[in-house]
Amino acid sequence: MAPPGGWAIEAVDVKKRFGDKQALDGFTLRVRPGSVCGVLGPNGAGKTTAVRILTTLLRPDAGQVRVGGCDVRTDPGPARYRIGLVGQNTSVDEVLTGRQNLVMFGKLYHLRAAAARRRAADLLEQFDLTDAADRAASSYSGGMRRRLDLAASLILSPQVLFLDEPTTGLDPRARIEVWEMIREIIAAGTTALLTTQYLEEADQLADQIALIDAGRVVAEGTPDELKGKVGPDRVETVVRKPTLDEVFLSLTGHHTTTHAADAEKGLAGTESGEGGGVGSGGDRSTKKSAQTQRTKRSKSAKKGKGAK
Ligand SMILES: Nc1ncnc2c1ncn2[C@@H]1O[C@H](COP(=O)(O)OP(=O)(O)OP(=O)(O)O)[C@@H](O)[C@H]1O
Ligand SMILES: [Mg+2]
Repeated sequence: MAPPGGWAIEAVDVKKRFGDKQALDGFTLRVRPGSVCGVLGPNGAGKTTAVRILTTLLRPDAGQVRVGGCDVRTDPGPARYRIGLVGQNTSVDEVLTGRQNLVMFGKLYHLRAAAARRRAADLLEQFDLTDAADRAASSYSGGMRRRLDLAASLILSPQVLFLDEPTTGLDPRARIEVWEMIREIIAAGTTALLTTQYLEEADQLADQIALIDAGRVVAEGTPDELKGKVGPDRVETVVRKPTLDEVFLSLTGHHTTTHAADAEKGLAGTESGEGGGVGSGGDRSTKKSAQTQRTKRSKSAKKGKGAK
Protein backbone atom coordinates (compact mmCIF):
# COMPACT_ATOMS: atom_id res chain seq x y z
CA MET A 1 0.00 0.00 0.00
CA ALA A 2 1.27 3.47 -0.87
CA PRO A 3 2.43 5.55 2.12
CA PRO A 4 0.25 8.61 2.99
CA GLY A 5 2.49 11.13 1.16
CA GLY A 6 3.04 8.75 -1.78
CA TRP A 7 6.16 6.83 -2.80
CA ALA A 8 9.49 8.68 -2.90
CA ILE A 9 10.44 6.60 -5.94
CA GLU A 10 7.96 4.73 -8.09
CA ALA A 11 8.95 2.92 -11.27
CA VAL A 12 6.30 0.72 -12.88
CA ASP A 13 6.93 -1.70 -15.74
CA VAL A 14 9.79 0.37 -17.16
CA LYS A 15 11.34 -0.82 -20.41
CA LYS A 16 14.46 0.37 -22.20
CA ARG A 17 16.14 -1.18 -25.21
CA PHE A 18 19.53 -0.34 -26.72
CA GLY A 19 19.67 -1.89 -30.20
CA ASP A 20 19.00 -5.56 -29.66
CA LYS A 21 19.76 -5.36 -25.92
CA GLN A 22 16.73 -5.14 -23.63
CA ALA A 23 18.44 -3.30 -20.75
CA LEU A 24 15.26 -2.88 -18.68
CA ASP A 25 12.46 -5.36 -19.16
CA GLY A 26 9.54 -4.55 -16.89
CA PHE A 27 11.50 -2.92 -14.08
CA THR A 28 9.15 -2.15 -11.17
CA LEU A 29 10.29 -0.68 -7.86
CA ARG A 30 8.67 1.39 -5.11
CA VAL A 31 10.62 3.10 -2.34
CA ARG A 32 9.11 4.68 0.80
CA PRO A 33 10.12 8.20 1.83
CA GLY A 34 13.05 8.12 4.25
CA SER A 35 14.12 4.58 3.41
CA VAL A 36 17.25 3.31 1.73
CA CYS A 37 16.81 0.89 -1.14
CA GLY A 38 19.77 -1.18 -2.26
CA VAL A 39 19.56 -2.32 -5.89
CA LEU A 40 21.84 -5.29 -6.14
CA GLY A 41 22.77 -7.01 -9.37
CA PRO A 42 25.60 -8.28 -11.55
CA ASN A 43 27.35 -6.44 -14.39
CA GLY A 44 24.86 -5.55 -17.12
CA ALA A 45 21.76 -6.20 -14.99
CA GLY A 46 20.42 -2.72 -15.77
CA LYS A 47 21.29 -0.82 -12.58
CA THR A 48 22.81 2.24 -14.26
CA THR A 49 20.09 2.30 -16.92
CA ALA A 50 17.47 2.36 -14.14
CA VAL A 51 19.31 5.15 -12.31
CA ARG A 52 19.68 7.22 -15.49
CA ILE A 53 15.96 6.91 -16.20
CA LEU A 54 14.99 7.73 -12.59
CA THR A 55 17.20 10.82 -12.64
CA THR A 56 15.83 12.17 -15.96
CA LEU A 57 19.04 11.52 -17.90
CA LEU A 58 17.48 8.90 -20.15
CA ARG A 59 13.93 8.46 -21.47
CA PRO A 60 12.33 5.07 -21.00
CA ASP A 61 10.65 3.33 -23.94
CA ALA A 62 7.66 2.47 -21.73
CA GLY A 63 6.48 2.56 -18.14
CA GLN A 64 5.79 5.17 -15.46
CA VAL A 65 8.48 6.82 -13.35
CA ARG A 66 7.84 9.25 -10.50
CA VAL A 67 10.46 10.66 -8.12
CA GLY A 68 9.53 12.93 -5.21
CA GLY A 69 6.00 13.08 -6.60
CA CYS A 70 7.13 14.33 -10.05
CA ASP A 71 6.70 12.44 -13.27
CA VAL A 72 10.25 12.43 -14.61
CA ARG A 73 9.06 12.18 -18.22
CA THR A 74 6.55 15.02 -18.22
CA ASP A 75 8.09 17.16 -15.42
CA PRO A 76 11.86 16.63 -15.60
CA GLY A 77 12.66 20.22 -14.51
CA PRO A 78 10.96 20.11 -11.08
CA ALA A 79 12.10 16.50 -10.63
CA ARG A 80 15.75 17.57 -11.00
CA TYR A 81 15.44 19.93 -8.03
CA ARG A 82 14.36 17.00 -5.84
CA ILE A 83 17.13 14.65 -7.01
CA GLY A 84 20.80 14.25 -6.10
CA LEU A 85 22.98 11.90 -8.13
CA VAL A 86 26.34 10.31 -7.49
CA GLY A 87 26.97 8.63 -10.82
CA GLN A 88 28.97 5.46 -11.43
CA ASN A 89 31.77 7.60 -12.86
CA THR A 90 33.03 10.58 -10.93
CA SER A 91 31.72 13.98 -12.00
CA VAL A 92 34.64 15.87 -10.45
CA ASP A 93 36.54 18.29 -12.71
CA GLU A 94 40.18 17.35 -12.15
CA VAL A 95 41.58 20.74 -13.08
CA LEU A 96 39.51 22.61 -10.49
CA THR A 97 40.08 22.49 -6.76
CA GLY A 98 37.56 20.77 -4.50
CA ARG A 99 36.14 24.15 -3.50
CA GLN A 100 35.92 25.37 -7.11
CA ASN A 101 34.12 22.16 -8.09
CA LEU A 102 31.46 22.67 -5.43
CA VAL A 103 31.04 26.38 -6.18
CA MET A 104 30.64 25.51 -9.86
CA PHE A 105 27.92 22.95 -9.04
CA GLY A 106 26.20 25.53 -6.82
CA LYS A 107 26.15 28.04 -9.67
CA LEU A 108 24.82 25.39 -12.05
CA TYR A 109 21.95 25.03 -9.58
CA HIS A 110 21.42 28.81 -9.81
CA LEU A 111 22.74 29.67 -6.35
CA ARG A 112 24.14 33.20 -6.08
CA ALA A 113 27.95 33.34 -5.89
CA ALA A 114 28.05 34.07 -2.14
CA ALA A 115 25.50 31.33 -1.35
CA ALA A 116 27.42 28.86 -3.55
CA ARG A 117 30.66 29.68 -1.68
CA ARG A 118 28.97 29.26 1.72
CA ARG A 119 27.38 25.95 0.71
CA ALA A 120 30.73 24.73 -0.65
CA ALA A 121 32.50 25.58 2.63
CA ASP A 122 29.83 23.75 4.68
CA LEU A 123 30.00 20.66 2.49
CA LEU A 124 33.82 20.60 2.48
CA GLU A 125 33.67 20.62 6.26
CA GLN A 126 30.97 17.92 6.41
CA PHE A 127 32.97 15.63 4.11
CA ASP A 128 36.34 16.19 5.80
CA LEU A 129 37.79 17.95 2.77
CA THR A 130 38.53 21.37 4.23
CA ASP A 131 42.29 20.77 4.38
CA ALA A 132 42.38 19.71 0.74
CA ALA A 133 39.78 22.25 -0.43
CA ASP A 134 42.18 24.45 -2.38
CA ARG A 135 44.16 21.67 -4.06
CA ALA A 136 43.40 20.53 -7.61
CA ALA A 137 41.05 17.55 -7.53
CA SER A 138 43.58 15.66 -9.69
CA SER A 139 45.67 15.31 -6.52
CA TYR A 140 42.81 13.67 -4.56
CA SER A 141 42.73 9.97 -3.71
CA GLY A 142 39.84 7.85 -5.02
CA GLY A 143 38.10 8.09 -1.66
CA MET A 144 38.44 11.89 -1.56
CA ARG A 145 37.03 12.20 -5.08
CA ARG A 146 34.08 10.05 -4.11
CA ARG A 147 33.50 12.25 -1.05
CA LEU A 148 33.64 15.31 -3.28
CA ASP A 149 31.09 13.64 -5.57
CA LEU A 150 28.86 13.00 -2.57
CA ALA A 151 29.23 16.61 -1.47
CA ALA A 152 28.35 17.85 -4.99
CA SER A 153 25.19 15.73 -5.01
CA LEU A 154 24.00 17.45 -1.83
CA ILE A 155 24.31 21.07 -2.97
CA LEU A 156 20.54 21.51 -2.94
CA SER A 157 19.80 19.11 -0.04
CA PRO A 158 17.88 16.75 -2.33
CA GLN A 159 14.80 14.84 -1.25
CA VAL A 160 15.95 11.68 -3.04
CA LEU A 161 19.58 10.70 -3.51
CA PHE A 162 20.75 8.19 -6.14
CA LEU A 163 24.12 6.54 -5.62
CA ASP A 164 25.33 4.35 -8.49
CA GLU A 165 28.00 2.00 -7.12
CA PRO A 166 29.36 4.67 -4.77
CA THR A 167 32.28 2.61 -3.47
CA THR A 168 33.35 0.59 -6.51
CA GLY A 169 37.12 0.73 -6.85
CA LEU A 170 37.76 2.05 -3.34
CA ASP A 171 39.98 0.23 -0.89
CA PRO A 172 38.28 -1.18 2.23
CA ARG A 173 39.19 1.79 4.41
CA ALA A 174 37.98 4.40 1.91
CA ARG A 175 34.83 2.32 1.43
CA ILE A 176 34.10 2.41 5.15
CA GLU A 177 34.63 6.19 5.19
CA VAL A 178 32.19 6.64 2.33
CA TRP A 179 29.69 4.33 4.09
CA GLU A 180 29.94 6.54 7.17
CA MET A 181 29.14 9.61 5.13
CA ILE A 182 26.25 7.90 3.39
CA ARG A 183 24.93 6.88 6.81
CA GLU A 184 25.03 10.49 7.94
CA ILE A 185 23.07 11.59 4.90
CA ILE A 186 20.41 8.94 5.34
CA ALA A 187 20.22 9.50 9.10
CA ALA A 188 19.10 13.04 8.24
CA GLY A 189 16.03 11.54 6.51
CA THR A 190 17.03 11.61 2.84
CA THR A 191 15.53 8.81 0.77
CA ALA A 192 18.29 6.96 -1.05
CA LEU A 193 18.57 4.44 -3.84
CA LEU A 194 21.95 2.79 -3.91
CA THR A 195 23.13 0.39 -6.60
CA THR A 196 25.89 -1.99 -5.75
CA GLN A 197 27.52 -5.27 -6.60
CA TYR A 198 28.75 -5.57 -3.03
CA LEU A 199 26.44 -7.71 -0.99
CA GLU A 200 27.94 -6.43 2.20
CA GLU A 201 27.32 -2.83 1.14
CA ALA A 202 23.61 -3.44 0.61
CA ASP A 203 23.41 -5.30 3.90
CA GLN A 204 25.20 -2.48 5.73
CA LEU A 205 23.31 0.48 4.32
CA ALA A 206 19.92 -0.56 2.96
CA ASP A 207 16.69 -1.33 4.78
CA GLN A 208 15.09 -2.64 1.58
CA ILE A 209 16.91 -4.61 -1.11
CA ALA A 210 15.84 -5.28 -4.70
CA LEU A 211 17.72 -7.98 -6.54
CA ILE A 212 17.84 -7.13 -10.24
CA ASP A 213 18.71 -9.46 -13.05
CA ALA A 214 18.29 -9.03 -16.82
CA GLY A 215 16.52 -5.70 -16.43
CA ARG A 216 13.89 -6.65 -13.86
CA VAL A 217 13.52 -7.00 -10.12
CA VAL A 218 13.58 -10.71 -9.29
CA ALA A 219 13.23 -10.45 -5.50
CA GLU A 220 12.62 -7.73 -2.92
CA GLY A 221 12.57 -7.42 0.81
CA THR A 222 14.58 -6.56 3.87
CA PRO A 223 18.01 -8.19 4.05
CA ASP A 224 16.62 -10.70 6.59
CA GLU A 225 13.52 -11.46 4.50
CA LEU A 226 15.69 -12.19 1.47
CA LYS A 227 17.99 -14.42 3.46
CA GLY A 228 14.89 -16.17 4.83
CA LYS A 229 13.65 -16.91 1.28
CA VAL A 230 16.42 -19.41 0.72
CA GLY A 231 14.87 -21.68 3.34
CA PRO A 232 16.33 -23.60 6.24
CA ASP A 233 17.64 -26.43 4.04
CA ARG A 234 20.21 -23.96 2.66
CA VAL A 235 21.50 -23.05 6.11
CA GLU A 236 24.59 -25.03 6.91
CA THR A 237 24.45 -24.54 10.66
CA VAL A 238 21.89 -22.98 12.96
CA VAL A 239 24.19 -20.04 13.68
CA ARG A 240 24.76 -19.05 10.06
CA LYS A 241 22.12 -17.37 7.90
CA PRO A 242 22.38 -17.64 4.11
CA THR A 243 24.39 -14.87 2.51
CA LEU A 244 22.76 -12.48 0.06
CA ASP A 245 24.93 -14.04 -2.63
CA GLU A 246 23.31 -17.40 -1.86
CA VAL A 247 19.89 -15.78 -2.00
CA PHE A 248 20.75 -14.34 -5.40
CA LEU A 249 22.15 -17.64 -6.64
CA SER A 250 19.07 -19.50 -5.46
CA LEU A 251 16.68 -17.06 -7.16
CA THR A 252 18.56 -16.44 -10.41
CA GLY A 253 20.87 -19.38 -10.90
CA HIS A 254 24.06 -17.33 -10.91
CA HIS A 255 26.21 -15.25 -8.59
CA THR A 256 25.96 -11.46 -8.37
CA THR A 257 29.59 -10.95 -9.35
CA THR A 258 32.05 -13.12 -11.16
CA HIS A 259 35.74 -13.20 -10.52
CA ALA A 260 36.20 -12.35 -14.20
CA ALA A 261 34.09 -9.24 -13.81
CA ASP A 262 35.97 -8.28 -10.66
CA ALA A 263 39.31 -8.91 -12.33
CA GLU A 264 38.20 -6.71 -15.22
CA LYS A 265 37.55 -3.91 -12.76
CA GLY A 266 40.79 -4.61 -10.93
CA LEU A 267 38.92 -5.63 -7.81
CA ALA A 268 39.49 -9.33 -7.55
CA GLY A 269 41.68 -9.05 -4.46
CA THR A 270 39.60 -6.49 -2.64
CA GLU A 271 36.22 -8.09 -3.15
CA SER A 272 37.23 -11.67 -2.58
CA GLY A 273 38.55 -10.56 0.78
CA GLU A 274 35.33 -8.84 1.77
CA GLY A 275 32.50 -10.26 -0.25
CA GLY A 276 32.48 -13.75 1.18
CA GLY A 277 30.76 -12.88 4.33
CA VAL A 278 27.44 -11.09 4.47
CA GLY A 279 26.15 -12.49 7.69
CA SER A 280 29.45 -14.24 8.34
CA GLY A 281 32.10 -13.47 10.90
CA GLY A 282 33.94 -11.32 8.35
CA ASP A 283 30.89 -9.16 7.92
CA ARG A 284 30.50 -8.62 11.62
CA SER A 285 34.12 -7.68 12.04
CA THR A 286 33.84 -5.10 9.24
CA LYS A 287 30.75 -3.66 10.90
CA LYS A 288 32.65 -3.48 14.13
CA SER A 289 35.64 -1.79 12.55
CA ALA A 290 33.29 0.66 10.82
CA GLN A 291 31.94 1.55 14.23
CA THR A 292 35.30 1.83 15.92
CA GLN A 293 36.53 4.12 13.17
CA ARG A 294 33.77 6.58 13.86
CA THR A 295 34.96 9.62 15.62
CA LYS A 296 33.35 13.00 15.43
CA ARG A 297 30.67 12.03 12.92
CA SER A 298 29.37 9.05 14.81
CA LYS A 299 26.69 10.36 17.10
CA SER A 300 23.97 11.42 14.69
CA ALA A 301 24.50 8.42 12.40
CA LYS A 302 24.26 5.95 15.26
CA LYS A 303 20.80 7.18 16.08
CA GLY A 304 19.73 6.44 12.52
CA LYS A 305 20.23 3.49 10.22
CA GLY A 306 23.93 3.25 10.89
CA ALA A 307 23.15 1.60 14.17
CA LYS A 308 21.33 -1.32 12.59
N1 LIG B 1 24.08 3.54 -24.12
C1 LIG B 1 24.03 2.22 -24.31
N2 LIG B 1 24.13 1.70 -25.55
C2 LIG B 1 24.06 0.36 -25.75
N3 LIG B 1 23.90 -0.55 -24.76
C3 LIG B 1 23.82 -0.08 -23.51
C4 LIG B 1 23.88 1.32 -23.21
N4 LIG B 1 23.75 1.49 -21.87
C5 LIG B 1 23.63 0.25 -21.37
N5 LIG B 1 23.66 -0.69 -22.33
C6 LIG B 1 23.54 -2.14 -22.15
O1 LIG B 1 22.42 -2.38 -21.32
C7 LIG B 1 22.70 -3.39 -20.37
C8 LIG B 1 22.53 -2.83 -18.96
O2 LIG B 1 23.59 -1.92 -18.73
P1 LIG B 1 23.76 -1.13 -17.38
O3 LIG B 1 24.88 -0.20 -17.56
O4 LIG B 1 22.44 -0.57 -16.98
O5 LIG B 1 24.14 -2.31 -16.37
P2 LIG B 1 24.67 -2.24 -14.87
O6 LIG B 1 23.81 -3.14 -14.06
O7 LIG B 1 24.78 -0.83 -14.45
O8 LIG B 1 26.12 -2.90 -15.01
P3 LIG B 1 27.49 -2.56 -14.23
O9 LIG B 1 27.40 -3.28 -12.92
O10 LIG B 1 28.56 -3.15 -15.10
O11 LIG B 1 27.61 -1.08 -14.07
C9 LIG B 1 24.11 -3.87 -20.66
O12 LIG B 1 24.03 -5.00 -21.50
C10 LIG B 1 24.73 -2.70 -21.41
O13 LIG B 1 25.74 -3.14 -22.30
MG1 LIG C 1 26.33 0.37 -13.83
